[in-house]
Parts: sequence; C-alpha cells; structure tokens
Amino acid sequence: MCGIIGSTGDAATLNDLVEGLARLEYRGYDSAGVAVARADGTLDRIRAVDGTTSLKLLADLASERSEGYIAGLGHTRWATHGRVTTENAHPHMDCSGGIGVVHNGIVENFRELKAELESEEHHFDSQTDTEVIAHLLESFLKQGLSLREAVMQSMSRLRGAMSFVAIDSKDPGVMVGTKRMAPLIVGKGRGANFVASDIPAILGKADSFYQVGDNQVVVVSPQGIELFDLTGTSVQLVEISVDWDLAAAERGGFSDFMSKEIFEQPAAVRDTLLGRLNAPGEIVLDEMRLDPEELRRINKIFIVGCGTSYHAGMVAKYAIEHWTRIPVELDISSEFRYRDPVLDQETLVIGVSQSGETLDTLAAMNEASLLGAKTLVVSNVMGSSMARTADAVLYTRAGPEIGVAATKTHTAQISALLLLALYLAQVRHCLYPSEIREIYEEMITLPEKIEQVLATDAAVQEVAQSMAAVKRFYFIGRHVGYPVALEGALKLKEISYLPAEGYPAGELKHGPIAMIDSDAVVFGVTTRTRLWEKMTSNLEEVRVRGARIVVVANEGDTQSVGLGDAAFEVPKTHALLAPVLDVIPLQLFAYHLAVALGNDVDRPRNLAKTVTVE
Ligand code: G6P
Repeated sequence: MCGIIGSTGDAATLNDLVEGLARLEYRGYDSAGVAVARADGTLDRIRAVDGTTSLKLLADLASERSEGYIAGLGHTRWATHGRVTTENAHPHMDCSGGIGVVHNGIVENFRELKAELESEEHHFDSQTDTEVIAHLLESFLKQGLSLREAVMQSMSRLRGAMSFVAIDSKDPGVMVGTKRMAPLIVGKGRGANFVASDIPAILGKADSFYQVGDNQVVVVSPQGIELFDLTGTSVQLVEISVDWDLAAAERGGFSDFMSKEIFEQPAAVRDTLLGRLNAPGEIVLDEMRLDPEELRRINKIFIVGCGTSYHAGMVAKYAIEHWTRIPVELDISSEFRYRDPVLDQETLVIGVSQSGETLDTLAAMNEASLLGAKTLVVSNVMGSSMARTADAVLYTRAGPEIGVAATKTHTAQISALLLLALYLAQVRHCLYPSEIREIYEEMITLPEKIEQVLATDAAVQEVAQSMAAVKRFYFIGRHVGYPVALEGALKLKEISYLPAEGYPAGELKHGPIAMIDSDAVVFGVTTRTRLWEKMTSNLEEVRVRGARIVVVANEGDTQSVGLGDAAFEVPKTHALLAPVLDVIPLQLFAYHLAVALGNDVDRPRNLAKTVTVE
C-alpha cells in the first residue's frame, strides 16, 4: 500500500527513484511521482497518473530532467483519500513549494488538522490526508524548528498508522522520515544513502539496510544516517540482514512476476525446510526466540492473518490440533483485534504475514502482547515490523515476492507452519521422534513433487483457456482441502475479477448449492484422505445439477480423475502436507485464465501487495 523511496548523495540519481518505484509498483499503481531537490535550491515535482503508464512517463521525464539532482523522494500510490488524479498524487507540498512529503498510511484526524491549517491561511491543492503533513511541517518550520524537530512535533499531532518522509529545499540533501505501525527502512550505499518502504526498492543500490522503529525519526543525508527517538535522543542503528539479491526482485525472463514466483515454489519450499532437522533427528528452528519450557506451558493457540496468509494459517490449525492436541482458534486479523479475545500468559498467538507489515495483523499481534499472550510471527521479510515486535519469529525463505497475488510465499508459509506444528509436538512430546522424522522426510520430498505439478502447466493452461467464457466458479474441499478451496477461489477472484467462492464441501448443501447450474464450474479438491468418499458424494451432488467439474486428484487415481470433466493431477503425499501440492494447479489455473482474459496479473485492479491501512 503506497511505496516510498528516497535517495541522497553524490552518486544518487533521479533514475534511482524511478527504478525504485518500478520495484515498488506492487504496493500501489494508481499514480506515481517524485520531488527532486536541485543544486539551484529548487524542489522540482513530477507526477503522473494511470496505472501502467505513470512510471513510463516518469522515466521519460526523469531522463530529460536528471541534471542537478541532489536528493529526491519518490512515491507510488494506492489511493485512500482523494481520487486518482494528478493533484492527489504524491509528493505533496506546503504553500511555499519548498517542502515535499511522501506518505504511506492514513492520517485519521486529517479533517480536523486541515480545517485548523486552512484557518491559518494554508492553501490546499489536493483532497488527500497526506497534504496536511506538508502544511503542518511548514508551520513548525516557520516557528524556527529544523526539519527533524518539525517531523518530531508533527508526530504528536498526527493520528493513525503511517510512515512519511520529508525533504526541504532549504537543506536539500537531507531527508527526514518517521513511522508508526507502517514500514520504513534505510540503506547505506557507496556515495548514496536511501530511505524506502521496502527492501526491494533499494536492492543493488544500498549495501547495508537498517531498521527504523515506531516513533523514531531518521535523518538521511549524504554524510550518513542518524536515528532519534521523539525526544531527540540519539538511537543506535540496527542492521537488518538481507540475503535477497537483485535478480530475485526482477522478472528473469518470465513475462510477469506471478508466473516467475509460481515456478520458484520448489526453491521457496526447499529453502524454508532446509536444515531444520539436526543430526539426532530433532526439528530445530534457529530464529525462534521462545524457549521450549514456555511452549510446554501453552494451552491455547490463536492463529491470525489476512488473505492468503489466513488460508495458510487454516492449514496449520488442522496440523497443530492433530499433532499436538492444543486447541487452536483461527481469526481474520481485523476481526480478532476488535472482538475482545480471551487470552492470557499461556496463550500463543501466531501471526502469519509474508510482509510482516499488514496493519491488521501487526495490530492484532500487539493487542495479544498487551493482553499478556506470547506472540510468534511467520514472515518472509527479515527485520519486518512483526518480526521485530513479536516474541518469536519463524522465517519463510521464499525470497522477495513482487506479484500481488501471493503464491510462493503461501506454500512456504504452509511449510513453515507445518514445521512449527512438528516442533510443538516435539517439545511437548506429543509424537514419537520416529514419527516426526518420518513426516519431515516426507516434507523434504515436496520440492520435487512441486516440480512434477509445475510440469503439468500446459495441461492446466488448456483447461483455463477452454473456460475463458465461464462467469462463475466454486471451489470445494474438506479438511485441509477446504483452505485449498478458499485459496483457489481467492487467487481466481484477485486476478480474473470473476465471482469465485470457496466452501467446505459438506456445507454446500446448506445454501450455496442453490447457485449451482450448468453455467457453473466447480473445482473439487479430491486428493485421497479418509474423507475422500464423502468428497466424491458432494461432487456427485453438483454434477447432477449440471455443473462442470474439475478435480484436483492424485496422479494415477483413475476413480478421482473420472469424477471430473477435467482433472489436475498431483503426486500423493501425507494428508496434512497435501495443500502444498494441491494449491499449485489452482494458482496456475487462475494465472492462465486471467492472462486469457487479458488482465495484468501482477497489478490486479484495486489490490495492493501489502495493506498498511485498516
Ligand atoms: C494483501 C495481499 C494478499 C495478502 C494479504 C496479507 O491483501 O494482496 O495477497 O495475502 O495482504 O498480506 P501479508 O503480507 O500479511 O501476508
């Protein structure tokens, strides 16, 4: 949700901003803009609207106007307040045009601040909440404060979760940023220093990356990076270890990030599982910060997440309850926060978030901490807000995911959560060591089995193309096939924009079956489990009502394959591990259908990769 980048220093260029913005597009692509401080003391602003063309336009303008660059800020927008227009695109400026601001998040009290500032003769050019920040800084600067002091003061006036970075043409090499429950990092490079909302924006440019904590203010200049708290006391910089390389954030020969990332799943799952079993055959989770003794005391688990991460959490609920017998509740993060959940010191709250920044999940985890629960996050981003604030962290090692529709991080999340479930079973002595080893050994065959599923891509594409005119899709599954059905439906909705619903197969007859007719296509997750026969009965129920059926079935299972008008075959595995394989043909189906419909799969309309607003 809104991407931020800034660069300063002798080696910094306007091109840094434009390239960084191209890598941040997954955060929002309604419009983009840059504000550039030039040696002549001016702040030059370039903004462009319209998803696909705005960055190209910016790049063209940038190549014409890159002379005299001292420092600059860039922004890619996902609109919250104010329609998608040029005047609402960031950077926003104060009345003098000397202060530029880029912002991510929402200023919840912007109406009241705007009225106050207007009464003090500030003139507003946009309908955004962001513009109040520029004017607020202007009034503090007029009182004689430095930009750093003005940013500090403004934080006590602004309500809501946000990060922003400001630049002042009077001291043009200096960028000042701050954050509260929204992402912001800084990077040092050779001859240039950077600020950004996300690591990929400055990969290959910065050599080292540092955290900015909540309610801290960072000053980035050509000379270095300084961090302060809101009282102005200096704070030590904490480096983030980043093992992503530039190639991982580029398309590498694929036509889009989504297909690249679908095909990266063998590596994402392999890397997530690698080295998690020690010589005596025990699961080891190095980054975890919870002591086994604390885990033995846990008597209740909540899993919270949004979107695809929530679906991974649902698979984990089945596995943790089955292997450890600890009761698990699963919540959508935004519901958990406000429903007054019953937690205490013996509760573990597991947040699932690829970005580690989703505001609802971050806030849910913070709420759980306040209530005394232990918190653990499964995240793909080292040093992300959740990774820093949770009691414990377990990283997926999927590499950066740029496509808005999550794919490789989903299967990596399920893999990590299954490892966590086994670890809990191990420390609580719920499974025999030999059982744990056996399951882990099956887990490490998953990357190879994923390769086999990916090899069926052409067949899936053919089915997808044959269904380009279908208007309604349903996905059904039982047990861990249910989260697979939900995820299959979500992928399709996200990038095809078609109605697609996921249901527990047994629930279909309690309402949804009324929608089934010969125009509907029903996907059934029909890989073999003890519920297979019940699943086949549910498919028969939709068949007799005229729907076309596509099954996800085990390779060579002719009975299952025979149930469908089309079948996607996947290798057999342990029932609780099956979602890692079963979801892949559904990702491929969604991808190919969206491509057949002419949609931009990496930049689906209205969606942002990381949602940092409520
Ligand atoms: C957004 C993305 C989804 C993602 C969800 C949770 O809605 O578009 O793809 O699943 O956020 O994101 P997280 O980073 O917390 O996993």
